Amino acid sequence: MDSFLKKVDFFKGNKPEDIVKEYGTPLYVYNEDIIRDRMHKVTQVIKKYPLTANYSIKANTNIHILKMGYEEGINADAMSPGEIEMLLKAGFESDRIFFVPNNVSREEVEYAVKKGIMTSLDSLDQLDLYGQVNPGGKCAVRLNPGVGAGHHEKVVTAGKKTKFGIAEEDVDKIFEIAKKHNLTIAGINQHVGSLYMDPEPFLKAVENFLRLAKKFEKLEFIDFGGGYGIPYHKLDDEQEFDMESFSKRFEVLLDKFVEEYGYAPLFKTEPGRYCVAEGAVLLGRVNATKHNSGKKYAGTDIGMNVLVRPSMYDSWHDVEIIRDNEVVSRDNLSEITVVGNICESGDILAKDRMLPEIKQGDLACLLDAGAYGYSMCSSYNSRPRPAEVLITKDGQVKQIRRRETIEDLMRLF
Ligand code: LLP
Repeated sequence: MDSFLKKVDFFKGNKPEDIVKEYGTPLYVYNEDIIRDRMHKVTQVIKKYPLTANYSIKANTNIHILKMGYEEGINADAMSPGEIEMLLKAGFESDRIFFVPNNVSREEVEYAVKKGIMTSLDSLDQLDLYGQVNPGGKCAVRLNPGVGAGHHEKVVTAGKKTKFGIAEEDVDKIFEIAKKHNLTIAGINQHVGSLYMDPEPFLKAVENFLRLAKKFEKLEFIDFGGGYGIPYHKLDDEQEFDMESFSKRFEVLLDKFVEEYGYAPLFKTEPGRYCVAEGAVLLGRVNATKHNSGKKYAGTDIGMNVLVRPSMYDSWHDVEIIRDNEVVSRDNLSEITVVGNICESGDILAKDRMLPEIKQGDLACLLDAGAYGYSMCSSYNSRPRPAEVLITKDGQVKQIRRRETIEDLMRLF
């Protein structure tokens, strides 16, 4: 594909230079149609049985995006009291929030109990803590199905090498702790890892997970976690995650489970990236180009503080170049490394990439920036976090988060 921006008319007729003139760079630009489309799709992953899709908001906590999720009928999962507060502020009722924390304090557990939010505990110690805080209460546990998946070892969240979940050999101890505190284990959840395009490891984990599920009596819900991938290499024609064939194979496993278990508990999923990644691009200004020892660099104002995924996981984000409001064609490509403005050698956005010629003053546009983009921003090097704007359904450009200022940073002292 020559240009994703053109193919989907991402800016809906707005001129990128007009947008950045008003809101500056670097700038996250969201497209409402794409986000709503993906949020709708995740509610359709299982059709045969009752399903709730919990948007995993760590991928993007912008309150305007959370409101879209609410309107699209999805529920949400939260990782911290901060994320719960965001969801409540966006209008989510407590029973539409699932708290899936890791290594939380007593105060944080008390907070969730007070708010009446279903909580999943991911170790025996944490389950015991929950029992002390809320004896006679109802909660869930996170199991480790023994199989992991994901785009980088840092995002594999199940299997043998991870801090997450309760291991199979400890499942019997769950029942002992539950008995001690008179707890009802209403649900179980898993999360295998993030970003798989090949569903094989996930389905293998589901099989293991459902085998473990049968040890639990009268479950109200089973949550399979998130992780559906998106095509980050779309300019090289990488295809979308094949949701339809995935759903069919998933349902076969569920059919078998339902038959053996005697009924279908409520099924849940927890996708984060899939809902929002493709719905945003990141615009930055090319401030300089140079050659260093024969290598060509394009230096932008998109530092690793604005998008950390490439430096943290060597993640790939496709890059399109915009000059005078036009996407530069990919007919003539040469190797170049696109970097940011942070004082780190690892401040690299796109390493040794085949890209069209880049000139000082161009706009660099990084695709698929909606998930784990802004939510992982920092103010490293005292660079304030960027603004976020939304291209609405009717093509308006609406600011949905203002740019942080130096005064904002000063306020904490
Ligand atoms: N549920 C749980 C319990 C999780 O730990 C995660 C992600 C999700 C759901 C959502 O997973 P998703 O559908 O987005 O793959 N920062 C990394 C991704 C870390 C994911 C951590 N857990 C990245 O930028 O690739």
